[in-house]
Amino acid sequence: PKNPIVMGIESSCDETGVGIVRWTGDGTLELLADEVASSVDEHARFGGVVPEIASRAHLEAMVPTMRRALAAAGIDKPDAVCVTIGPGLAGALLVGVAAAKAYAAAWDVPFYAINHLGGHVAVDTLEHGPMPPCVALLVSGGHTHLLHVEDIGKPIVELGTTVDDAAGEAFDKVARLLGLGYPGGPEVDRLAREGDRTAVVFPRGMTGSRDARHDFSFSGLKTAVARFVEAKQRAGEPVPVADVAAGFQEAVADVLTMKAVRAAKDLGVDTLVLGGGATANSRLRELAEERCAAAGMTLRVPRPKLCTDNGVMIAALGAHLIAGGAAPSELGAATDPGLP
Ligand code: KG4
Ligand code: ZN
Repeated sequence: PKNPIVMGIESSCDETGVGIVRWTGDGTLELLADEVASSVDEHARFGGVVPEIASRAHLEAMVPTMRRALAAAGIDKPDAVCVTIGPGLAGALLVGVAAAKAYAAAWDVPFYAINHLGGHVAVDTLEHGPMPPCVALLVSGGHTHLLHVEDIGKPIVELGTTVDDAAGEAFDKVARLLGLGYPGGPEVDRLAREGDRTAVVFPRGMTGSRDARHDFSFSGLKTAVARFVEAKQRAGEPVPVADVAAGFQEAVADVLTMKAVRAAKDLGVDTLVLGGGATANSRLRELAEERCAAAGMTLRVPRPKLCTDNGVMIAALGAHLIAGGAAPSELGAATDPGLP
């Protein structure tokens, strides 16, 4: 059909997502359904996502989530089924991919294997329309990527990624050091509001060197926070937790936004797109806005529900690829947990 209805299935981490969109032409999409079941609460007591628990939760949630999405969209079947093929947790990916293949075969509609990271970028077109050439900054518990997107339907170039911890992961680890709950990002964000972000200055990893890549490092920062906390405890002094949270958050937001804007300038691109769960961070958003404005750039941030993992983002990228004439994937396509 001219305006295909595209389904996206997501199961790369701890969210089971089924989203449905309609291609309405010229790079614009209409949202028909966005159903997500999360197993985040089951991982909380472990302080991080437990792969086996995530896989089992996907198995239980997949069919009910699918039924809810079809009902919300008011359709019996879509015109195409798209699914996250990678990157992600191997066992978790398998559940979504097996479901997508089964539904595509049963409905006799084409099947498309989709890169999860591209989905985080493409989802922005739902809210802000056609996407100009841009730099995208993806930050979540699983990823920290700086990408160059010339055309959302074409291959995306990776400009840099983390050499150790993901940004959201650093938030989770620092939250644990400060005795806060999981996921740590929202807790650190809240506590930081009561602190002074200049009281404790933490190191900004990999900001000095100007090599061709735009990579990040957050493990040194995490260690610096741990040392600071330990030194206070050893000296028998109270840990100024709000100041530590604010100083840590400032270091992360500073590095991310500085490098994103620098990469965009290097490429002569004037749009920055944010994606991933950690874009909910208030200081990251604030600094991104400030620095984009100062550099004469446009900042595009999808609403929070679309920034965290969901099926809509997979449907969105699929719709762009289908509109661009991409061939369907083989039903034998294998999951690729380490997909670049
Ligand atoms: O995209 P997401 O829901 O799941 C994946 O990891 O793929 O992102 C979750 C991550 C967690 O690490 C969480 O701590 C972080 O995003 N996060 C935040 C905030 N809200 C969520 N990090 C910093 N500030 C926040 N407000
Ligand atoms: Zn993600």
